[in-house]
Amino acid sequence: MGRLTGKVAIVTGGASGIGAATVRRFAEEGARVVCADIADQAGERVVATVRDAGGEAAYCHADVGTLAEVEAMVAFAVDTYGGLDVIHNNAYWTGGGYVGELDPEIWERSLRIMLTGVFYGMRAAIPRMLARGGGSIINTSSVEGLYGGILGSPYNTAKGGMINLTRSVALEYGRKNIRANCICPGAVVTPALEQLASFGGRSLDDVAAMHALGRNLRPAEIANVALFLASDESSAITGAAIVADGGLTSGLNVGGFPPYGG
Ligand SMILES: NC(=O)c1ccc[n+]([C@@H]2O[C@H](COP(=O)([O-])OP(=O)(O)OC[C@H]3O[C@@H](n4cnc5c(N)ncnc54)[C@H](O)[C@@H]3O)[C@@H](O)[C@H]2O)c1
Repeated sequence: MGRLTGKVAIVTGGASGIGAATVRRFAEEGARVVCADIADQAGERVVATVRDAGGEAAYCHADVGTLAEVEAMVAFAVDTYGGLDVIHNNAYWTGGGYVGELDPEIWERSLRIMLTGVFYGMRAAIPRMLARGGGSIINTSSVEGLYGGILGSPYNTAKGGMINLTRSVALEYGRKNIRANCICPGAVVTPALEQLASFGGRSLDDVAAMHALGRNLRPAEIANVALFLASDESSAITGAAIVADGGLTSGLNVGGFPPYGG
């Protein structure tokens, strides 16, 4: 028996990075998984790796910024696997700029994909979870959702808004056995992080040094947090924003003192 045996899960942004690792991890633990993305070839490849390893997964094209596509994605999961127990709203797209100069289209697209898209995912999934007697919603926020940031206001705003949206769902549906939580990762080595670091002129080593652990995180480490939240092992946890950041936000170290051992 796996930790998710008998459960049906959707992972959005499942074609890459954290989402791809989560699709694989959920399937390893016995879930039947819908990998949803707009990057169809990459998504199909993730599904193929799951099947090669003996797991069950199916790919679904879904732009999370379009309600009809999100509804079709949830219907696909129900038609293919008979119900829905877990949704991991994880897809993202963002752009940035100083607020006084920010292109309103970048603002709107970022919020549509990262915040409205999460709303669409939950809106479509909740009736199916109610029909199933409960479920687990997992939304990928970020430590950036807990703080402000420079050039990243659409991202920080969407990720922060997502945390309160998730808390609201936790309050509204807790008595129906639907739990809703966010994960707030630190820097995870994915195409997104490499792009971010290159924009800012920082190397991945510079970013790693900002973490208490002295390293960046691996997608599989965040997938393990998602696995815990998807499983019944986390039955006491709802409305939480779980920080999984390798100690990135543990403190400021204004004095610049060296950690133990140098
Ligand atoms: N990598 C990090 O350091 C980090 C840190 C904190 C939070 N996060 C969050 O983790 C999540 C996954 O990030 P990642 O680093 O794995 O990114 P990634 O770039 O590796 O993957 C993102 C995926 O989202 C998909 N996507 C983009 N627009 C979409 C849309 N409209 N509909 C459906 N899918 C779409 C992309 O095709 C891609 O497969 C994101 O929500 C991100 O904000 C990442």
